[in-house]
Amino acid sequence: MNKDIEKKLIITIDGPSGAGKSTIARMLSKALGYVYIDTGAMYRGIAYAFMNRRQEAEIDEFLEHLSIRFNFTDGTRVFLEDRDISDEIRTPEVTSLASSLSQKSPVRQYLTKIQREIGRDGGVVLEGRDTGSIVFPDADIKFYLDADPEERARRRHLEFKSKGIDTGLTEVKKDMSQRDRNDSERSIAPLIIPEGAVYIDTTGIDIQGVIGVLLKHVREKG
Ligand code: DC
Repeated sequence: MNKDIEKKLIITIDGPSGAGKSTIARMLSKALGYVYIDTGAMYRGIAYAFMNRRQEAEIDEFLEHLSIRFNFTDGTRVFLEDRDISDEIRTPEVTSLASSLSQKSPVRQYLTKIQREIGRDGGVVLEGRDTGSIVFPDADIKFYLDADPEERARRRHLEFKSKGIDTGLTEVKKDMSQRDRNDSERSIAPLIIPEGAVYIDTTGIDIQGVIGVLLKHVREKG
């Protein structure tokens, strides 16, 4: 635990994809000795499981029989029937299905409940689309990270490349703007700037610079 911060805070980081949330949330949680909860990975886990389901089923029934587990000791790892699927959930197909399944109320209820249970005692950094608006509207500190869409697409493209996923920049851009629309225009838990959130535009700012700004806010609260 960071000596400067005495309280076990609940910190949320929301924003669109490619704004740098995951890297920053991971680094911030490390700096504070907090647990990092990547809620996007949880939505991706459900999407992966649904994509590979053995029987046709409505989403409610599917969730009832779903054997999925999350481990937060070193980032967010996802296990389906005890198999670690944390790497397999990063493909473009899972990305796209996660975006559409995350519009379904039973899926949101299922994951929001787990996220609240893990985070309620504090000492957590939650990262996603609705962590400061729906999951923990009373969080101690809320951040909203944003960046120029061109830069976000470039970052996502580089990330895919580093994982050997061969998707062109134009396609990444197209998928991203579709996903931005899905995430922001859906009727339940849309991506919004949560009330009271600190808004940070990360365009052209290096990661250390962003972490510095976040830590300053955290120290003021902790
Ligand atoms: O952050 P990500 O790209 O891994 O998230 C995958 C999808 O999950 C994204 O399209 C939207 C959805 N999601 C969500 O609806 N709510 C969250 N708190 C986190 C992610």
